[in-house]
Amino acid sequence: MARAALITGASRGIGLAVARALTADGAAVCLTARDPKELADAVRGLGPCAIACPGDVADPAHLEAAVARTLVEFGRLDILVNNAATNAPLGPLMTVDPLAWRMAFTVNVEAPLRLTQAAWRAWMRDHGGAVVNICTEGTHGVGPGVGAYGTAKTALLRLTRQLAAELAPAVRVNAVSPGLVRTEMARFVWEPGEREIAAALPLARIGEPEDVARAVRWLVSDEASWITGADLVVDGGRRVRAGRPLG
Ligand SMILES: NC(=O)c1ccc[n+]([C@@H]2O[C@H](COP(=O)([O-])OP(=O)(O)OC[C@H]3O[C@@H](n4cnc5c(N)ncnc54)[C@H](OP(=O)(O)O)[C@@H]3O)[C@@H](O)[C@H]2O)c1
Repeated sequence: MARAALITGASRGIGLAVARALTADGAAVCLTARDPKELADAVRGLGPCAIACPGDVADPAHLEAAVARTLVEFGRLDILVNNAATNAPLGPLMTVDPLAWRMAFTVNVEAPLRLTQAAWRAWMRDHGGAVVNICTEGTHGVGPGVGAYGTAKTALLRLTRQLAAELAPAVRVNAVSPGLVRTEMARFVWEPGEREIAAALPLARIGEPEDVARAVRWLVSDEASWITGADLVVDGGRRVRAGRPLG
């Protein structure tokens, strides 16, 4: 029987591209996001093997419901992609509202842990599976105004490695860390300066959601069956740009 996947934050952007890639491989997919209408439109575009489970990943009851719904509809849960995230609150940490800071961790770290726990209990402990957490290339450096996002995503990367150790050999847990990708979340970065940003990248363009989706698709496939605890950076070479030849 076809594999079943649960993908959070999949009404647009990287999550929707992952859903498209996995359905193209024959998987059944359950998609989440907060806006039910945008989510319904996304699911309709994917065809009969896709279902919607609208809700906020900050709500623990929604996470339990998403796992239960996937099991009821598809009878299995082989793949979990923790993709939904928030980059709020932006700005310097000395003026950040600690409650907003806490929400960044609730959405970006606690929700992936809760979902992995629920998926483990409901299916993966007994049947195996693959988890991919979408982190960010930014965990490898420090950027202005993204302190809450950066620290939460760094915690998610650490969580990925811890879970990889604890859930092996039944379940593989890996991270994919995108650089700048053309989505709504990053519009405030790429829209004003795409040409300059692209020119500074070794691979000479910003990322598209499909670039990241292909990495996820591969990591959850049997092709990656001896890989766990890895961080697959998909960034157009941003981290090596300082080594480009002069002239
Ligand atoms: N784009 C980049 O340059 C970039 C770079 C590095 C990492 N990433 C990571 O890539 C992932 C996907 O981001 P994206 O760029 O594709 O963003 P996007 O296009 O804005 O999509 C975000 C998706 O997540 C959903 N979402 C947001 N908050 C949610 C919540 N609390 N509960 C449930 N769903 C929620 C959104 O729908 P609703 O608003 O309706 O909930 C939407 O479906 C994120 O983990 C992000 O940190 C992106």
